[in-house]
Amino acid sequence: MLPPPLLVAINELYTAANQMVLALPALLLAWVSFSAVLVDFQVAQPPPLPQDAKQCTVKILERTFGFSFGMAEVVQFTPPTDCGPVGSWAGISLNFTVTSNGTQFDRLGIFTFQNVEFWRTSTPEPTSGDGIIWTYLKDATKYTSLFAKPGTFILQLDNLLETGLDGQYATVLHATFFQSSARHPPATHADLIIPVSTLANDTGNDASVPPAFSLNVTVPRNAVQVFAELFASGNGDEEFWYFNAPNQFVDTIPTFGNGPFREVRMLVDGQVAGVAFPYAVIFTGGIVPTAWRPITSYGALEQPTYFIDLTPFVPILTDGNPHNISLDVVSAEDDHAINQNWFVSGNLQVVLDPSNKPTTGKITVLDAPPFAVTNTTGVVAGNDVNFTVTATRNIHIEADIVSGSGKRNHVVWSQNLQFSNTQDYINNSIVQLLEQTATGTFLSTHNGVSTLVDDFAYPLNINLTNLVPDGSFFVTLIDHSYNRKSQPASFNLGSTINEHQVAGGFFTIASTGNFGNGTSQNTFTYSDTHGNTYNRQVSAVDNNITSDHQGGTLAPKVGPHFPAFGPNALSVPKARLPGGRVRGN
Ligand SMILES: *[C@@H]1O[C@H](CO)[C@@H](O)[C@H](O)[C@H]1NC(C)=O
Ligand SMILES: *[C@@H]1O[C@H](CO)[C@@H](O)[C@H](O)[C@H]1NC(C)=O
Ligand SMILES: *[C@@H]1O[C@H](CO)[C@@H](O)[C@H](O)[C@H]1NC(C)=O
Ligand SMILES: *[C@@H]1O[C@H](CO)[C@@H](O)[C@H](O)[C@H]1NC(C)=O
Ligand SMILES: *[C@@H]1O[C@H](CO)[C@@H](O)[C@H](O)[C@H]1NC(C)=O
Ligand SMILES: *[C@@H]1O[C@H](CO)[C@@H](O)[C@H](O)[C@H]1NC(C)=O
Ligand SMILES: *[C@@H]1O[C@H](CO)[C@@H](O)[C@H](O)[C@H]1NC(C)=O
Ligand SMILES: *[C@@H]1O[C@H](CO)[C@@H](O)[C@H](O)[C@H]1NC(C)=O
Ligand SMILES: *[C@@H]1O[C@H](CO)[C@@H](O)[C@H](O)[C@H]1NC(C)=O
Ligand SMILES: *[C@@H]1O[C@H](CO)[C@@H](O)[C@H](O)[C@H]1NC(C)=O
Ligand SMILES: *[C@@H]1O[C@H](CO)[C@@H](O)[C@H](O)[C@H]1NC(C)=O
Repeated sequence: MLPPPLLVAINELYTAANQMVLALPALLLAWVSFSAVLVDFQVAQPPPLPQDAKQCTVKILERTFGFSFGMAEVVQFTPPTDCGPVGSWAGISLNFTVTSNGTQFDRLGIFTFQNVEFWRTSTPEPTSGDGIIWTYLKDATKYTSLFAKPGTFILQLDNLLETGLDGQYATVLHATFFQSSARHPPATHADLIIPVSTLANDTGNDASVPPAFSLNVTVPRNAVQVFAELFASGNGDEEFWYFNAPNQFVDTIPTFGNGPFREVRMLVDGQVAGVAFPYAVIFTGGIVPTAWRPITSYGALEQPTYFIDLTPFVPILTDGNPHNISLDVVSAEDDHAINQNWFVSGNLQVVLDPSNKPTTGKITVLDAPPFAVTNTTGVVAGNDVNFTVTATRNIHIEADIVSGSGKRNHVVWSQNLQFSNTQDYINNSIVQLLEQTATGTFLSTHNGVSTLVDDFAYPLNINLTNLVPDGSFFVTLIDHSYNRKSQPASFNLGSTINEHQVAGGFFTIASTGNFGNGTSQNTFTYSDTHGNTYNRQVSAVDNNITSDHQGGTLAPKVGPHFPAFGPNALSVPKARLPGGRVRGN
């Protein structure tokens, strides 16, 4: 029996792999006028930077992204000299403020500086009338060594304007440099940051995979520690990767194949050096768009990144030759294939030895198999298709490293990760249940001292229940969390975040215009290795904030930040559903 078609119109125009489109157009709709600017936001800690320090704020760029496809904003940036010696700052924060008006999809934003992608964001979908505004403040302190030099700054925000899609994104980006002092010492940071990126000079420096992205990278011979940061997000047929089905089950249910397990890998000369099980970022047009305004899904405005300790490979990387560093994303299918596409990039945060002499040493233990151990089981019976995909991953690498100045470092790098995804497509996919968890522990020790730590749990539960057989009216509940204790490198700030978001709503797809409603409940706590704390409990019903409490050392002194406003009739054009695509032609 054919599954019910859940989403009726898909415009193939948007599916090319390299296009930065997060959601496919479904149906156009009538506008609803809003009486006030809607203030969108992602729950997150304010940048943990010293507000009592002298601050120098500079505008990096200002650009309205209308029809901006393939036309990134490219500007030259020069660091300010009036907040102490360049590079000696106590910290750097960025303020990205955007307004938009009309009807538009959620779009990806890729910030690149000195060929290093350092921030991946996305746009909340606008409303007509007075439109929307959002500000995201990002702590950019770990990229201090980039910002201490002039260079090319790129913001890629590929937007399209056409009939029914008139929303433009008017953006402005400021950077604030916090002067260091005895009270607020200069921030510790990598000596050097090396891009693992496309190195393009006119567009975002992320690469589209598959196929795997590889780059020859030359590391200075006196490098003694290297930490790699990975960026990865699913796009197009991979936007809802967690809702994809193993190939053996996909034929009878309305979703994409290649299964729901995704592993992001970094390889050095073909050898796996470290991996990440990614957190699922749901963009603001995703599943039930009315659930994501004004509070976006966690990660939509600042996508999480993943650090791995590449220090065991330092003896190889410092031989003076270029080495082939690869990034890819693989599945639990037999051929490890995924759909099109993921955007990936990386950077190497490097510590140099003062001696300027080459580092030596060797890898003594190398247990890093090419792929995770996975298992796919399931049942097709009656009108149900139920399946589970699990994965476990263990990596253990040790190395002895001798710096040019004679210091010895015994490095132990281990990763232990677990993944499970169960999907039940019940009663001919009328009810679609998803239960996923990704958990893990990363630990590196340098001479026995904990250096890189990542303990994470990313549970994701979705219930999408169709209220009419053709899928044009459904209700969704999404319950997900981001629980993570992360110390990305000895020189970068460590933090513990516990974020829980329960969001959902009803949604109707109609030729006269899609509409729906939504609720969102968020509980967020943050603490870091500098002693800063922040917590927030905030809820919304439709466009209205119904309760909001903030606390901790980073909480704003005056409140409330986000006033409530109406109206409650939510008209949202840009929905795309996982498992909601009409299969076949
Ligand atoms: C961020 O930038 C916007 C636009 O320039 C400005 O209105 C706002 O006050 C800034 N916010 C902070 C916290 O600096
Ligand atoms: C949206 O358009 C309306 C009418 O043209 C205008 O009054 C409003 O300022 C605009 N809002 C934004 C956020 O651009
Ligand atoms: C950008 O890169 C292209 C090709 O890689 C090169 O020809 C061009 O000169 C570069 N432009 C600048 C401004 O660096
Ligand atoms: C990388 O460098 C090696 C050795 O220098 C060279 O053989 C190879 O072609 C290079 N690969 C790429 C992709 O540039
Ligand atoms: C780099 O390594 C990848 C595997 O990780 C391989 O597919 C690719 O061919 C290699 N590239 C070069 C130039 O050796
Ligand atoms: C996969 O999981 C099933 C169900 O738990 C189990 O019976 C089977 O032995 C597992 N297969 C492998 C290869 O681990
Ligand atoms: C599929 O899973 C649901 C629970 O989510 C269960 O009620 C149903 O019986 C299962 N169907 C089969 C065929 O196992
Ligand atoms: C899924 O949602 C529907 C509609 O709200 C509800 O009736 C059903 O009990 C939910 N199922 C589960 C397993 O939570
Ligand atoms: C299955 O879905 C149909 C609508 O297509 C509905 O009428 C029926 O009650 C559902 N059956 C069960 C057991 O929920
Ligand atoms: C959302 O819409 C559904 C269906 O029309 C309705 O039952 C529910 O009360 C609405 N919820 C909110 C919070 O407006
Ligand atoms: C949202 O707030 C407006 C007034 O600001 C009110 O008219 C409307 O009923 C509220 N909607 C909900 C769902 O609370």
